[in-house]
Amino acid sequence: MNNKPLDELSDRLLEIIRKRKNHFHTLKYLSKKLNQNEKEILEAVSLLKENGYIFRDNDNKEFSLSQIPDRLIKAEILNHLKTNRIGKNIHAYRTIQSTNIIAAQLAQSNVPEGTIVVAEEQTRGRGRFGRNWFSAMGRGIYCSIILYPKISPAQAPGISLMTAVSLADTMASFKSLNVKIKWPNDCLLNGRKTAGILTELSAEIGHIHYVVVGIGINVNYAREDFPEDIAKRATSIKAETGIEISRVKLLADFLKNFEKDYGNFNKTGLTKIRNRIIKYSSIIGNIISLKQKDNYITGKAIDIDDDGHLVMELAGGIQKVFNAGEVTIIKTMI
Ligand code: BTN
Repeated sequence: MNNKPLDELSDRLLEIIRKRKNHFHTLKYLSKKLNQNEKEILEAVSLLKENGYIFRDNDNKEFSLSQIPDRLIKAEILNHLKTNRIGKNIHAYRTIQSTNIIAAQLAQSNVPEGTIVVAEEQTRGRGRFGRNWFSAMGRGIYCSIILYPKISPAQAPGISLMTAVSLADTMASFKSLNVKIKWPNDCLLNGRKTAGILTELSAEIGHIHYVVVGIGINVNYAREDFPEDIAKRATSIKAETGIEISRVKLLADFLKNFEKDYGNFNKTGLTKIRNRIIKYSSIIGNIISLKQKDNYITGKAIDIDDDGHLVMELAGGIQKVFNAGEVTIIKTMI
């Protein structure tokens, strides 16, 4: 969190009290165990409280941790994280303009690959095509991952598609959700957008300096939380299932899937996940309109190839391959 992140002492304190949730620890015991005076322990407890941890205390100067917050703070993410590299270095903010902006700044100072920037709220969340990304406090996941892939800039869109597949797998494993991907990288539940990916890169001809993969997931929004114009097209996991889920766990699970898929992507591109790309596709077999700048192309989506490009059948049976654009489904055929 940008205001008051947990410090080293509160992190160490958390480690001890987390092991025995609801157990009362005396101030004396904690002070001895952490080799700090009681005043310092009390300060660490209040820092944890500020970060959403709920304690029960009693007159005997005893504390028990009764509730752990579902907040995207470093200590919680690390507690759930099962990756080797991705997400090990975390920059967590409470309110931020855009995690992608901060991630791009960090990438310029060569932070380790897999560093993530997360926020509880974005004031200028960015979407594709210069749109805004609705990013209200504490309901979604707003996360950017910094990568230095050794691929050509032309292959970078494959990272977006790969990310969408990692995300779809993660969402699908929660409550067996029926997730679809609208090419190239929107994750849908019941036809409405639930997650989006904005991949931005710094490159020169033939060489990528860095890639920032920005992921926005609508997790615990109620339907009425969305502004009217967005509500028609968007949904959240909670709105579709009625269940509030742990954002921290969802993020940690996603990063685990992402690490595996990114490892494969670096070795063999999209080949290994091609079957999943097809499995999740909401457009293959359907009549779609593809918007490229001010141009609309209508036809049948027939495939997504090994490079992640969309193959369409146009009037007269002509097949054409597209590497970018925004899809609208016009007629469902399957
Ligand atoms: C889209 O338009 O579908 C892409 C949305 C991407 C939103 C995420 S939220 C985290 C990261 N930071 C941003 O400002 N945007 C991306």
